[in-house]
Amino acid sequence: MSATIDQEKLHAFVGKMLGDLGGALSVPTARIGFRLGLFDALAQGPASAEELATRAGGLHVRYVREWALAQAANGFVDFDAGADRFALSPEQEMVFVNRDSPVYLAGAFEMAAAMIEAEPKVEECFRNGRGVRWGDHAGCLFCATGAFFRPGYVNNIVQSWIPALDGVEAKLKAGARVADVGCGVGFSTLLMAQAYPESRFTGYDFHEPSIEDARRHASDHGLDDRVRFEVSTAKEIPEGNYDLVTMYDCLHDMGDPRGCAAHMRRILAPGGSWMIVEPIAGDSAQDNLNPVGRLYYNASTMICVPTSLDQEVGEGLGAQAGEARLSQIVREGGFISVRRVTEGPFNMVLEAR
Ligand SMILES: C[S@@+](CC[C@H](N)C(=O)[O-])C[C@H]1O[C@@H](n2cnc3c(N)ncnc32)[C@H](O)[C@@H]1O
Repeated sequence: MSATIDQEKLHAFVGKMLGDLGGALSVPTARIGFRLGLFDALAQGPASAEELATRAGGLHVRYVREWALAQAANGFVDFDAGADRFALSPEQEMVFVNRDSPVYLAGAFEMAAAMIEAEPKVEECFRNGRGVRWGDHAGCLFCATGAFFRPGYVNNIVQSWIPALDGVEAKLKAGARVADVGCGVGFSTLLMAQAYPESRFTGYDFHEPSIEDARRHASDHGLDDRVRFEVSTAKEIPEGNYDLVTMYDCLHDMGDPRGCAAHMRRILAPGGSWMIVEPIAGDSAQDNLNPVGRLYYNASTMICVPTSLDQEVGEGLGAQAGEARLSQIVREGGFISVRRVTEGPFNMVLEAR
C-alpha cells in the first residue's frame, strides 16, 4: 500500500506529538518539584538556580538548574535569560503552589505516575479480560486520587453542588444523617462535615488503607466527633435512614452500579436524596473526544474499567458513561427521578430520588 503523505499534515501532527510527549516527560520532574518544595520556594519570588537551591533547603545546584530550565521549557515557570532568574506567574502559582485553587494539579501528576506504575497489570487484563483490584493498581493510587479530586471538591461541594440539590442544604444545616459512599481518603466527607456542624457523616469505602487515611484526616482536623469512617462495599452498608447519600467519582468504578443503586435506595430515609458526582461526559463517544475526555478515557482504561471488571457483575461503565446511561442504571436500581442539577468543567452532578 502506498499512501501519499501530506507534508503539512505530517508536520502539524508531529508537532502535536512533540507537545504531548513533552507533557508526558514533565511528569517526573514536576513531581520532584512538588515533593522537594521547589515550586513553593519559587513562589517566594524570582530566583537564580543557586537561590532556589538554597531556599528549597540546600539542594544540589546542578540538579536544580537543570530542573528549572526543564520547567521553563515546559512553560511551567518563567525564565528571564538576561538576569538568569526564574519566576512563577500568579497563574502558574495557582497550578503549582496554591493547594486550595480549583486548578492545583499536583494530584494530576501523581495520577499520571500511578497509571504508569500499574501498566503491566492492566496490560495483562487486555489478554485475560479480568480486572485489577482498587488496592493493587500502584503504590499509592488512592492517595493520588484523593489529591487529584480535592481541588474540585474544595471549590464546589459546599459552594454549588449541595445547594443545587432540592432542599438538601437546609436539611444539612439543621442536622441530617449523611453517608458518603466510596469516600476514598475522605476529603469530600470532611469538607461536608466542616461546613455542616449539625449533621453527622459516615464515609464508607471497601478499601481499608483509604479508610485508615480518612480516619487520620478526621482526627487531624478535630472532626471525629461528627464523622465516622467504615470499611464496607457499597452494597453491604449495614446502616440506613440516611437523609443524603453522596457518591463522588466512584459509581462508575463499581462492579455492580445497578445493585449499588438498589442498595442506596434501601439505606435512604423516606424523602432522602442521592447525589451522584460523576466525570463530565456526553452521551456519545464523539462528544468526549476533547481535552477533558482525553484525560478521562486514558484514566478510565488504566483505572476505572479494571477496577469495575475486578468486581462482581463487572459492568465496566468507564469514566465516560454519560448521563443517559448513568440515569438508566440508577432508575433500574429503583429510583423514580434522576436529573442533572449542575455541572462543572470536570464533573456533572446528578440527583436521584
Ligand atoms: C476514583 S475513587 C474516588 C474516591 C473518592 N470518592 C474521591 O472522590 O476522592 C473510587 C473509590 O471507589 C471505591 N470503590 C470502588 N468500588 C467500590 C465498591 N463496590 N464499594 C465501595 N467502594 C468502592 C474505591 O475504593 C475508591 O476509593
